[in-house]
Amino acid sequence: MLVRRFGDRSTDWHGTKSDQGGLKSKVKNFVLCYFSIINLALNILVQVIAEDKGTPPQLATASVVITVQDVNDNDPVFNPKLYDTVVAEDSPPGTPVTSVTATDADENPRLHYEISAGNTRGRFAITAQNGRGLITIAQPLDYKLDKRYILTVKATDSGSRFDTATVYVNVTDANNYPPVFENAPYSASVFEDAPVGTTVLIVTATDGDVGQNAHITYSLASNGGDGSEFTINSQTGAIVTTKALDRETLSGYLLTVTAKDGGVPALSDTTDVEISVTDVNDNSPVFSKPSYSGTISEDALVGTSVLQVSQYLIFFSFLLFMFQISATDQDMGLNGRVRYALASGVDAFAIDPTTGVIRSAKQLDRESTAYYDIVALGIDRGTPGLTSEVPVSIRVLDINDSPPSFDTDKIVLYVAENSPVGSSVGEILAHDPDEGPNAVVQYSIIGKTNTPIFNLNLSFILNKFM
Ligand SMILES: *[C@@H]1O[C@H](CO)[C@@H](O)[C@H](O)[C@H]1NC(C)=O
Ligand SMILES: *[C@@H]1O[C@H](CO)[C@@H](O)[C@H](O)[C@H]1NC(C)=O
Repeated sequence: MLVRRFGDRSTDWHGTKSDQGGLKSKVKNFVLCYFSIINLALNILVQVIAEDKGTPPQLATASVVITVQDVNDNDPVFNPKLYDTVVAEDSPPGTPVTSVTATDADENPRLHYEISAGNTRGRFAITAQNGRGLITIAQPLDYKLDKRYILTVKATDSGSRFDTATVYVNVTDANNYPPVFENAPYSASVFEDAPVGTTVLIVTATDGDVGQNAHITYSLASNGGDGSEFTINSQTGAIVTTKALDRETLSGYLLTVTAKDGGVPALSDTTDVEISVTDVNDNSPVFSKPSYSGTISEDALVGTSVLQVSQYLIFFSFLLFMFQISATDQDMGLNGRVRYALASGVDAFAIDPTTGVIRSAKQLDRESTAYYDIVALGIDRGTPGLTSEVPVSIRVLDINDSPPSFDTDKIVLYVAENSPVGSSVGEILAHDPDEGPNAVVQYSIIGKTNTPIFNLNLSFILNKFM
């Protein structure tokens, strides 16, 4: 109840409003009074006392009920006027982004919210909820298209009064894309003599995301060998040798390489990398035996190739020389192709460079050279070629091609005239340069010119046995 006497100043209304909402404040005037009871229908009961200037004054009292009606004299006001928020790219439609708040001092303002600008591709929607404006995702976001939105949000009251606010929405990249190897599957080759640390190849994977979601680390899952011949640089994808390789031990590797991005959870791609080890001429020919020995008849036909005659013929013809050496080379291609040669200075024999068959190159004579110790070579066709040597000993077999011969043409023996029958007169000796039975000399007297008194005591003389 407000009871107030008019004073000198007509605006000087005072009173205590005690019957409305428990307000205790002094009321200075109606306007203030009204503001103090926002949004409530307000009836103010005023008791008006009219007092005249007579003596004594006459009073008249009246009760006045003042009903204060709201007019739309206030704009909606956003508080705050700036919003800064972040939303994940993969949030589904309907996900709340943020809510904005506008207030309006007027009674029952029925604020209408809308996004008036910046809503590219209609990604966002706004609805009024308990007087606030709730911004939600309306269409799936795509970080690649729009990374940041600057929305202008407008709150309009029923009387078209409005205020605007600005909402910054940052879109964060979702780990949408897995890494993808560019040229998978990979194959590469490396020389077997590549030094440790040689980069064999560099694999590269790309990722459609950005930032950490596109940060790729590489790893090696498995290996064809014992697992430690190669390593991969986790950042660059360079595959590097960690050991000396040997094609003759293992000529190829199949690696499994994984690229993993930095998203949570991480996405990955896996590919095969085939590495073939390229041959290097690092192996010398190896002969099938540490040394070879053979025999040849001294009357072997010069240059006869045993490969041109049948086994049958060889069986019967000891005159033909069959002698072959062979070597292998672990390397590949030309590096492993062996040709044969004889060390320089050997003129009695020749070797077939392809087959390794050794043949006589001239007429042999056991009586002048019975043994040959020569050196044969196996040379591969690498660049440069590698050479192995093997000793070859050849024994020349005897042929009865030399007649026995006496030291002199004429032998003179002396015998005493009274020698008894059977006395030894002397010994004669003939030499045969041949060997074995071919060298056994049989003696006989073929011309008994004077008398039959001499008999030859035949004896066999083996003059040389080697
Ligand atoms: C949104 O992005 C802008 C520009 O990239 C940046 O300055 C701002 O701090 C970001 N806001 C939030 C909430 O991350
Ligand atoms: C021949 O000579 C040997 C010894 O030189 C002797 O033993 C042998 O009796 C001799 N034969 C004859 C028939 O004289």
